[in-house]
This record gives sequence, C-alpha cells and structure tokens, in this order.
Amino acid sequence: MTDSKTANLILPDQELKLPLILGTEGENAVDISHLRDSTGFITLDDGYGNTGSCESAITYIDGEKGILRYRGYPIEQLAEKSDFVETAYLVIYGELPTIDQRTRFSALLTENAAIHERMVYLFESYPRDAHPMALLGAMVNALACYYPHLATNNHNRDIENFDEAAATLISKVRTITAMAYRMSRGLPVIYPKRGLRYCENFMHMLFSEPYDLYDCPPVVAKALNLILLLHADHEQNCSTAAVRMVASSGANLFASAAAGICGLWGPLHGGANMAVIEMLEAIHQEGDDGSRFITEAKAGKRRLMGFGHRVYKNYDPRAKIIGKTCDELLKTLGVSDPLLDIARHLEQAALKDSYFIERKLYPNVDFYSGIIMRAIGIPLNMFTVMFAIGRMPGWVANWREVATTSKPRIYRPRQIYMGKTARDYVAKEDRK
Ligand code: ACO
Repeated sequence: MTDSKTANLILPDQELKLPLILGTEGENAVDISHLRDSTGFITLDDGYGNTGSCESAITYIDGEKGILRYRGYPIEQLAEKSDFVETAYLVIYGELPTIDQRTRFSALLTENAAIHERMVYLFESYPRDAHPMALLGAMVNALACYYPHLATNNHNRDIENFDEAAATLISKVRTITAMAYRMSRGLPVIYPKRGLRYCENFMHMLFSEPYDLYDCPPVVAKALNLILLLHADHEQNCSTAAVRMVASSGANLFASAAAGICGLWGPLHGGANMAVIEMLEAIHQEGDDGSRFITEAKAGKRRLMGFGHRVYKNYDPRAKIIGKTCDELLKTLGVSDPLLDIARHLEQAALKDSYFIERKLYPNVDFYSGIIMRAIGIPLNMFTVMFAIGRMPGWVANWREVATTSKPRIYRPRQIYMGKTARDYVAKEDRK
C-alpha cells in the first residue's frame, strides 16, 4: 500500500495505483473497476472468495468473529425480540417499522396472500411427485404472467409498484408452498385465512382440513418465525448473487427471485438442510453414533453436512441460536428424536477434532434447522423450500438495491480462456 487511499499494483512493465475502499465496518477492498481498461489484466478468483461484487447496505457478516447483522441489528437481538414479518420489513426497507408501517405491511401481505385462481390449473399440470423446489421456481417465475403490471422489466416502472410486488412475493411464496404440499398428497387446497399471522397462516394452509382447523401452538409459531427470520438474508451467497446477477439485466423481481430459488436448491447451499437429515438418518440406520462417520468424513469419503461455511470460520451465530431452540422446542413438544442425539454427538466430536479445528469447520445454520422442521411436521422434501420462504426478504432487498442503483450496470464477469486455440473446421469424413 502506498498511502491510506491507494494500493500499488506492480505488473510486468507497468505499475498502477488502485483506489482503496473502506466499508462502514472497516472492511478493506481494492477497487479494480478500471484494471482491465488501464492494463489489459483481469483478476482470477475461482469461487469469488476474494471478490466484492457490489456495495450493499443490507447485511453485515464478520465470519472470523461469528457476527451477523441485518441493517446493523445483531441477529441475536432480532432472534430474541423480533419476528419474521418485522425482520422482513427491516431487511427490505432498511429500518424497523413504526406501528403504522408494520400494520400497513401486514395488511399488504394479507391482501396478497391468495394466488390467482388460474394458477391452480398450472399446479394441476405438474406431476404429483414434482420436487417442491422445482415447483416453487416455476410458480414464482410464473407470477410475472399473472401479475404483469408488477413485472414490466423496466426497473423504474417495477420500482413504482415495488411495495405490492414485494408483498406479493413474500406472501404468495408461502401460499404456493402450501398448495404444492397439499396437491402432492391429494389433499384439498386450503386458502389463506384473514386474521391469522404469517406463520400461523402458513401452518393453517399446510395442515388444516376443511372439517378440522389446525390450531398452531404458540411454541410452533415461535420456532417457525425464528427459522424464517434467521434465514432472511446472508449477503452475497450463491442464491443472492444469482438474484443480483439476473436483476442487473433489468429483469423483474419475480424472474430474479426465481433465479435465487434455483441457486438455493443445490446441496451445498439451501439443499444442505435436507442433506443433514438424510445424513443423520443414514448414521442412525447404520447403528453408528456418529464416530464412524467422523472418521470417514476426515478421510474425504463422506462430507459432514451442516458443517463448514465459506464465510464463517467460527461458529455460525445462527447455528448457536437454532441449537438452543431445538432443545427447548423438543422438550416443550415432548418429542424425542434420536437424530438430535446423533447431531449433538457429531458436533461435540467434530469440535474437538483437529481435522475440523484446523479447517475451521463449525456447525452452520442447517445443522439443527432440519430437526426443528421435522418436529413441527414439515416433510423432508420441503426443507429447502422453507429456506426459500425465509430468504425471500433478502432476495427482494438485494433486487431493490440493484434496481435503484444510481449507476446501473449489467453484471458480466470475465474468464480466463483455457481451451483450444484457433483451428480450422474439420469435414465430417475427416474426423477421428
Ligand atoms: N465435512 C468435511 N470436510 C469439509 C467440510 C465438511 N462439511 N467442509 C469443508 N471440508 C474440508 C474440505 O474437504 C477442505 O479440506 P482440504 O483443505 O483438506 O481439501 C477444507 O475443509 C476446505 O473446504 P472447502 O470445500 O474448500 O470450503 P468451501 O468454502 O469451498 O465450502 C461449504 C464451504 C460448501 C459450505 C463446505 O464447507 C461444505 O460442503 N459443507 C457441507 C454442506 C453444507 O453444510 N452447506 C451449507 C452451507 S450454509 C448455507 O448455504 C446456508
């Protein structure tokens, strides 16, 4: 570094002063926006581990210290004092809502809870056993067909209707999920009920019957609120980066959120919560208490799902909160789950083991969230969808940041080409 504002980059035959950027939490970055124009060089950063793709004011993470804050508020305080809808408002609009703002936001969610009746036919045309994530991605993208005034692909116009679009997405994602669940089981669809709160309404749409209304126990609503709240945003992860990437082309909120859903589906991201339960079930069936599994994970034969994180090199603060809630919930519901014992044993063993210590592998948010979801009756194949419902405010907020930027620019990374150099076309009969 040359002085506090610039860094010197020495390249073969040239030297360049690069501006330094300082984040509000003291994060340092070298601004390479003009690197290629000035030098012809680009940077290579496989997996983007060292690349800041944007400036953002939504979420702050310090992975070394295990810190997560939404809009400056520590996750621990939000987990204790807030709920999902209030936190969604905070993440999207930047401030905790006043009483009036909260009332209006809740009313907007209620107004937009039901889906267009024609969408029911769309559901009907999918196989009964379609994966809920495939359905969710398709249905969220399809919202642009049913609500075209919210999806013009013109950022200025889409921003004019942003409040309605955001509420539509946050509210309907829950209705779509519940519908997919009911239809996959051949059960009658349950419509949202006015007067119920967000999580209670979701559980009603999942588990009520026309002749028998589900009465959501407060402890279940609390646990669900917590899970969704803890997932509400997590800065530039795979799915959020996908949302911003798609949004940068001018695409509407629904198309961008659908991209996020696709990104979330993979087992290294949102699919990990399912993978954790599958792993714990396999360990249970093998009669292992987790010890054999740890040995195999260290040998690279298996992966300890729900452990490790690209950013957290310390305890994921969400895992701490969820682990505690998991114990409390199971105790209150009187549920005993052998998978929880295995999970606890795996955690204790891994935290003492040099393989995991050296690589800074700690439990992440997915390690215990699946046990909570099992306990409240959410089926395994819907776990990743639950993550998507929780992450929706974060995707909405990130879309908004892109759509309202003063310097709109399409995201378009470069690459280092490592393929064949130029060669002549070979006729069919001459090919070997
Ligand atoms: N079990 C065993 N070993 C692991 C694990 C794990 N879960 N995670 C990482 N390692 C090892 C790797 O083998 C590697 O070892 P090496 O240096 O000897 O080759 C080292 O730790 C570094 O791992 P990377 O894969 O380079 O870490 P990366 O940052 O690329 O991956 C990831 C992070 C994908 C989360 C990884 O830790 C993983 O696969 N975890 C399990 C899946 C999971 O729980 N995903 C959810 C993430 S949280 C979320 O999306 C909400």
